[in-house]
Amino acid sequence: MADLAAVMRLQWAAGLSADAGALRAAVVDDDRLVVVAAVDGEVVGWAKTHRYRVADGAARAGHYLGGVTVHPRWRRHGIGTLLTTARMEWLAVRTDRVHYLVNARNGESIALHRRWGFVEVARARSFHGVTFAGGSGVLLSVRPGAPRVPPAPGDEVSAAGSPRSSG
Ligand SMILES: CC(C)(COP(=O)(O)OP(=O)(O)OC[C@H]1O[C@@H](n2cnc3c(N)ncnc32)[C@H](O)[C@@H]1OP(=O)(O)O)[C@@H](O)C(=O)NCCC(=O)NCCS
Repeated sequence: MADLAAVMRLQWAAGLSADAGALRAAVVDDDRLVVVAAVDGEVVGWAKTHRYRVADGAARAGHYLGGVTVHPRWRRHGIGTLLTTARMEWLAVRTDRVHYLVNARNGESIALHRRWGFVEVARARSFHGVTFAGGSGVLLSVRPGAPRVPPAPGDEVSAAGSPRSSG
């Protein structure tokens, strides 16, 4: 995958971990989508989906949004929205329920995803083996194709604690 090295560099630029093997596995998995956003040939954002085969407590088996990163220089330009729209459209013809895991402190991510009407299902220290810096993760879900919710003033204040940039 030509974009793999670019995605790795993007993760590092965002101060996030990068796992080339896991990324390659996602790309070749027909049950998952990996998308990139580029400006003038430079990869400035990427995102993926994940499919869990078995439930983990409140976290059902099924399709999850598996993470989205936008280069720090390119944030608030609608790129995260585009990458999420692409994933939601891809998932809408594959499942009647999309799930999303996020650190309870990640206000920017929660605000971004609110537009699709995600509703909180549960909070826990971990879901599907994913743990969260600070100790609390949120599981949300939505029926894909549900009407988009316009952003409201103060969207970003509903996360617990201050916004942070880890998933
Ligand atoms: C979360 C992230 C992907 C958002 O990407 P982005 O390209 O900046 O998002 P968009 O420009 O499409 O923003 C869409 C909406 O999300 C919300 N949002 C995004 N960043 C925000 C911030 N820093 N503070 C408050 N709201 C924010 C806003 O409602 C925004 O709409 P607006 O710009 O019209 O107000 C980006 O901040 C990022 O890469 N963060 C680090 C990685 C991460 O936390 N990923 C999510 C893991 S679950």
